[in-house]
Amino acid sequence: MLRIAVQAKGRLFEETMALLEESDIKLSTTKRTLLVQSSNFPIEVLFLRDDDIPQTVATGVADLGVVGENEFMEKEENAEIIKRLGFSKCRLSLAMPKDLEYPGLSWFNDKKIATSYPVILRNFLKKNGVNAEIHVITGSVEVSPGIGLADAIFDIVSSGSTLVSNRLKEVEVVMKSEALLIGSKNM
Ligand code: PRP
Ligand code: ZN
Repeated sequence: MLRIAVQAKGRLFEETMALLEESDIKLSTTKRTLLVQSSNFPIEVLFLRDDDIPQTVATGVADLGVVGENEFMEKEENAEIIKRLGFSKCRLSLAMPKDLEYPGLSWFNDKKIATSYPVILRNFLKKNGVNAEIHVITGSVEVSPGIGLADAIFDIVSSGSTLVSNRLKEVEVVMKSEALLIGSKNM
């Protein structure tokens, strides 16, 4: 039995389901229970939060996983990239209030940055010699500057509309991301 971990809901979900369908993997139920059997292959699909997919694959609980590169890089789990899937493209960027002037990376020195991706951000700041405070928050990162919780954010940007509606501007693209097929190293 091959077990594949996929995102239960969120930005990867629709296209992951389409990928399974294109691969002719039929599921026995359309109800999103945790574990669903395929009706035509010896395959089980495990529906999880994207954050939990790298670890689930690294520990061998699932053999394969479909996950965003952002989560894969953030979790630093011992799994490997089998294929870049080319969908759910986005970038992980630093953004700041749009009315302030941006003189370059040094602006972030002594600033507080809200993010759900502290590992990727810490590595980037260190590499660039920037000394900022990282405030970890799991959701609604984009409202942080507006409510005085942080000076800037580090988050996923896709269409950019979330930034616009929160009066923020993207000033540094730290990494690009897309959906990945990952596998256990000892598969
Ligand atoms: C991400 C991110 C922004 C939004 C950006 O959230 O946190 O809120 O997408 O996309 P846009 O540039 O197209 O507006 P996501 O929908 O992945 O949900 P989550 O952060 O709550 O997991
Ligand atoms: Zn998430």
